[in-house]
Amino acid sequence: MKKVRYGVVGLGNMGVPHARHIVEDKNRQFCLTAVCDLAGEKAAKVSEELKVPSFTDACAMYDSGLIDAVIIAVPHYAHGPLAVHAARRGIHVLCEKPLSSSVSHARAMIAECRKRKVKLGVVLQHRTFARNIEARRLVRSGALGEIFRVQMVCSNWFRSQGYYDSGAWRGTWDGEGGGVLINQAPHSLDQFQWIGLGLPKQITSFLATREHKIEVEDTANIFCDYGDGRHGYIYATTAEEPGMDQIIVSGDKATMIVEHQGIRLGKLKIPVAKHIYGTKKQDVIVSAFGGPKQQTTWTDVKIPDRGNRTQHIEIIRGFTKEILTGKGSYACGEGALNELEISNAAYLSGYLGKPISLPVDGAEMDRLLAKLEKERSTGRGQGARKKYYAEMKKLLAKK
Ligand SMILES: NC(=O)c1ccc[n+]([C@@H]2O[C@H](COP(=O)([O-])OP(=O)(O)OC[C@H]3O[C@@H](n4cnc5c(N)ncnc54)[C@H](O)[C@@H]3O)[C@@H](O)[C@H]2O)c1
Repeated sequence: MKKVRYGVVGLGNMGVPHARHIVEDKNRQFCLTAVCDLAGEKAAKVSEELKVPSFTDACAMYDSGLIDAVIIAVPHYAHGPLAVHAARRGIHVLCEKPLSSSVSHARAMIAECRKRKVKLGVVLQHRTFARNIEARRLVRSGALGEIFRVQMVCSNWFRSQGYYDSGAWRGTWDGEGGGVLINQAPHSLDQFQWIGLGLPKQITSFLATREHKIEVEDTANIFCDYGDGRHGYIYATTAEEPGMDQIIVSGDKATMIVEHQGIRLGKLKIPVAKHIYGTKKQDVIVSAFGGPKQQTTWTDVKIPDRGNRTQHIEIIRGFTKEILTGKGSYACGEGALNELEISNAAYLSGYLGKPISLPVDGAEMDRLLAKLEKERSTGRGQGARKKYYAEMKKLLAKK
C-alpha cells in the first residue's frame, strides 16, 4: 500500500474537519476517498464539497472497496460496533476519543483489531503538543526524581447550555454515557496519566451536575492512589470560567508546573528525603514557624518547536505512518485505554459511593450505565446505548 485511502464516518463537529484536513494536507501518503453519515443530507453536502462518494451506512462504505482506513467520529456508543465491523473487513481504525463509553467495549475493540491484524489508533491530539511531549520527557528523564504527586486542574472545558442542547445525544446517559469525564476531559485524563504516573491502583471520586441542565456530571473531583504514599488529584469541569489547564508533578528532586504553553521547573538543591533526615538540630528549632527552607531554583523550560506537527492532522499523519511502516501512531488502542479506565473508575466510585480498584470491572461499568439510564434518563439520547450494546453483543457472539 503506497497511499492510505481514508473514509470518515460521522460528519458532525469533528468528522467534517477530519475530512477537510485530509484533503487539504500536503502529505501525499494519504487521501480521502469516501465519507458517511446516517443523515443523508450531511453526507451529500460533504461529498459535494470534497468531491468523494458518500454513504449513509458505514458497512456499505467498508464494503465499497474504496477505503483502507476509517476515521470513526460518531457518538460514543457507536464506536464499538463500527470499529469491529471495520476490523472484520481488514480496515484500519482511527477512532475518536474516548474509545467507547465503557472499558468493556474498548477492550473488545482492541482485541478484535489485534486479532484481525489491523491498526487501532485514537484521536488524542494533546499528545502532539510540544509542551506535553516535553513535560513527559522531563518526568521520564528522571529530572524530577521519584514522583509522589500528580495534580491536574482541567477547568478549561467550559461548555454552554446551548452546546448541550445542540445534539440529542449530548449530556445524556442513553446517548453519550457520561459528561465532562467521557466527552471533554479524556484529553486531560490522558495527559494526566501519560505525563504522570500512569494508571492508579484505586480511585475515589465525587461527581456533580452543578450548573447545566443535563443528566450527566458537569464537574468531577477524582482522588488517585498509586500505592507507596503516591497520590494524584484531578478536577475537571465544563462549568467554570476562566478555565485552567494545569498539571503539577512533584518528585523528590523537583516540582514541575505545566500551564498555558509553558513549563516551570523548580529544582531542589537536596532531594526531599535527604533534606528531611539531613536537617541539623538547630535548623529544626529555627524552623518551628515554617522552615528550614532549602534552595529551589526555578527556571522556564525551553520547549522545542514542533512547527505544524500538532493537533488532529498530526494524529492522522502518525496513524498513516503506523499503517505503512508499523511505527508512528501517537495513541494506539491499548495506549488510549488508561484514560477510559480512569473515567470509568470515577463513574463507578462517584455513583456507587465506594473506592474502585483498577483495572475496572467492565461488566460492573455496563451495569452502572444501564442503572443510570433507567434512573436518570429523559430519553433524549434516543436509546443509543441499548441499540449499540445489542449490536455489539451480536457481533461478538459471531467470532
Ligand atoms: N478529538 C477532538 O478534539 C474531538 C472534538 C469533538 C468531538 N470529538 C469526538 O468525536 C465524536 C463525534 O462528536 P461530534 O461532536 O462530532 O458529534 P456530532 O453530533 O457533531 O456528529 C456526529 C455525527 O455522527 C452521525 N452518526 C451518528 N451515528 C452514526 C452511525 N451509526 N453511522 C454514521 N453516522 C452516524 C450523526 O448523524 C452526526 O452527523 C465523539 O466521539 C466526540 O467525543 C473529538
